[in-house]
Amino acid sequence: MIVDALGRRFRNLRVSLTAACNYACTYCVPDGKKLQAADFELSAQQLVYAVELLVDAAGIEKLRITGGEPLLSPKFDALLPAVMGLPLSDVSVTTNGQLIPRKADLIVDSGLRRINISLDTLNPERFRAIARSGDLQTVLKGMALMREAGLKIKVNMVPMRTQNADQILPMLDFCLEHGMELRYIELMNMGHLRFGSGFQRDFLGMEDILEMIAARYEFTRTDAPYDSTAVRFEIPGHGFFGIIANESEPFCSSCTRLRLSSNGRLYGCLSNAANHDMRPVLALPHHHAMASLQSTLVKALGDKQDLSFKGEVTVMKFIGG
Ligand code: 5AD
Repeated sequence: MIVDALGRRFRNLRVSLTAACNYACTYCVPDGKKLQAADFELSAQQLVYAVELLVDAAGIEKLRITGGEPLLSPKFDALLPAVMGLPLSDVSVTTNGQLIPRKADLIVDSGLRRINISLDTLNPERFRAIARSGDLQTVLKGMALMREAGLKIKVNMVPMRTQNADQILPMLDFCLEHGMELRYIELMNMGHLRFGSGFQRDFLGMEDILEMIAARYEFTRTDAPYDSTAVRFEIPGHGFFGIIANESEPFCSSCTRLRLSSNGRLYGCLSNAANHDMRPVLALPHHHAMASLQSTLVKALGDKQDLSFKGEVTVMKFIGG
């Protein structure tokens, strides 16, 4: 097992199926243009082999399927059932939900137990203003289908002062009512947000979010696993919510995440553009691949930051959150 000076190792792998997305969210892309697939994206079969190798070489236990928008890729249909057969303690999918109604049977039949659905507002006009595409009702229908099938659902919301701050309580009410766990994700200063004043204008931190919630609910902070990114709270008798406090309470020092982009590059840190091409390794038979991966993983672990999130221009939008 490869461990760094802070005791970190790779335990969670996030695989981006495609860089393409059917939304163009304001915090992700600057110009309203939807992201396209990367050049030379890996096939479903290559991605599954990459995951298998990383399970063996890095000790990966948890897998997250992400994008872009993973449900947009035809590879999703082959990849999901295949990874469900690997020795992993947990598999989840992060999706904007727009295509869940079309993929619901496939998802349920795969045996997936939980899913993370991004939703920033319950107001249909605001929804269109933030996602610049898609349809709110379709996402709500997708959530209902997943609930009915018994999947555990986390809902990701990025609160922004000028775009959806008024939704902080309505989104919480909605999620509590439907047995879903809301995760407020502090706006990350990355990509185009690093230029211009959008980040400073829209950033809403944990303290502000908690103050708004305290106006309606009593809550207590709960214990979270050591490598969890979320600060988790319980509203007794109602349920739970979390805050991914990238800025207010950085979690770099206990980060166990490794990312694989759709074109086969390994990233040790979301906030570092350094990456390591896994394609040559995928051409090798298993035991040669394992040997070659060891040095790559040492390098990728060295890419992690020690303390706090610095932000990069290029990363999140195509390797997923
Ligand atoms: N800040 C915070 N969250 C972001 N996401 C994408 N870009 C950002 C950003 N700059 C989130 C999406 C989605 C998840 C995959 O990542 O809202 O919930």
